[in-house]
Amino acid sequence: MFWNILCHPIWVISTAVLAIVVRIQRKGSWDPLACTVRLKGKTVIVTGANTGIGKFIAMDFARRGARVILACRSESRGTAALEEIKKKTGNSDVHLRIVDLSSLGSVREFAKGILEEEKALHILVNNAAVSGLPRQITKDGLDASFATNHLGPFLLTNLLLDLLKCSAPSRIVTVSSMNHKKGEVDFSHFHGENLTYHMDMVYNHTKLHNIICTNELARRLQGTGVTANSVHPGVVMTETPEEGAVSSIYCAVAEEMEGITGKYFDSDCSLGLPAPLARDTALAVKDFEMCERVTSKL
Ligand SMILES: NC(=O)c1ccc[n+]([C@@H]2O[C@H](COP(=O)([O-])OP(=O)(O)OC[C@H]3O[C@@H](n4cnc5c(N)ncnc54)[C@H](OP(=O)(O)O)[C@@H]3O)[C@@H](O)[C@H]2O)c1
Ligand SMILES: *[C@@H]1O[C@H](CO)[C@@H](O)[C@H](O)[C@H]1NC(C)=O
Ligand SMILES: *[C@@H]1O[C@H](CO)[C@@H](O)[C@H](O)[C@H]1NC(C)=O
Repeated sequence: MFWNILCHPIWVISTAVLAIVVRIQRKGSWDPLACTVRLKGKTVIVTGANTGIGKFIAMDFARRGARVILACRSESRGTAALEEIKKKTGNSDVHLRIVDLSSLGSVREFAKGILEEEKALHILVNNAAVSGLPRQITKDGLDASFATNHLGPFLLTNLLLDLLKCSAPSRIVTVSSMNHKKGEVDFSHFHGENLTYHMDMVYNHTKLHNIICTNELARRLQGTGVTANSVHPGVVMTETPEEGAVSSIYCAVAEEMEGITGKYFDSDCSLGLPAPLARDTALAVKDFEMCERVTSKL
């Protein structure tokens, strides 16, 4: 009787149709414009918000009515984006704050300003990054790519944690990249040692550390109401950064993301498995402690 049902052509056909529908749904991207979540009364920070993916993330948050803080390194480029976002969204509660993520001192100063001025922080998007930098050691003695892409954002996130916790439920989204899969972990890289400045090799390492430390942060934040996830934004041509913003916006605002933490999302907003090194919990503890040491000493 049971087998009769299983072999029935209608069962076979309906299963096949369902499989196709599920497949299509998974393939299709989540649509920010179809998501009605409002952010009125919520404060958000987006780093590197003056251009590319970051600008579209900030634009989306502004449309939802958030108090938006654009964390940029350039006063002029930041002001241009500020004006554009205000004009396009009609939200006047958009502000520019200057930070150079490659400098730990600048990150400290930025965080101090935020803690003095802001009563709450509900969303932090670590978006800013550089790629293809030649060898360059910052005044803190760090490799400039590592400082900008990982250690600066790491310190920033940690300095803002208490505010995020007070504002819970709140979310941290770190924009990584599928390039992390080719990354390696060697803590001497932080100081520019044992690094080969070939193509995007250093970038790939930094994007791996992004995910590793986000996962450890998520573990440490269990029970606080603050979530931390990483995303791959998709490979984005300069003309279509809007699409590249989708997975970050999804993690930051989607209702179904409430409570989900320590995960990695692909550009189509599907839950993905990061590289094996990014799933090594012992390595994550070590990496996080190493980053704490490096950023607190300076
Ligand atoms: N685009 C892609 O195909 C792709 C693929 C995978 C992952 N991603 C990731 O997506 C994120 C955004 O990428 P994107 O393509 O939009 O990059 P982008 O167009 O190059 O924009 C990067 C942003 O980061 C800012 N930034 C750079 N160094 C900084 C520093 N020291 N302090 C503060 N801000 C700094 C830049 O400011 P300035 O304008 O002043 O330089 C700019 O606002 C990055 O994390 C990137 O790794 C992108
Ligand atoms: C990194 O470089 C240092 C010298 O700067 C060296 O002692 C160490 O063995 C190197 N580590 C790796 C993993 O190559
Ligand atoms: C960096 O990652 C990308 C994407 O995985 C890969 O194509 C590239 O070869 C990597 N670069 C290096 C130098 O390993």
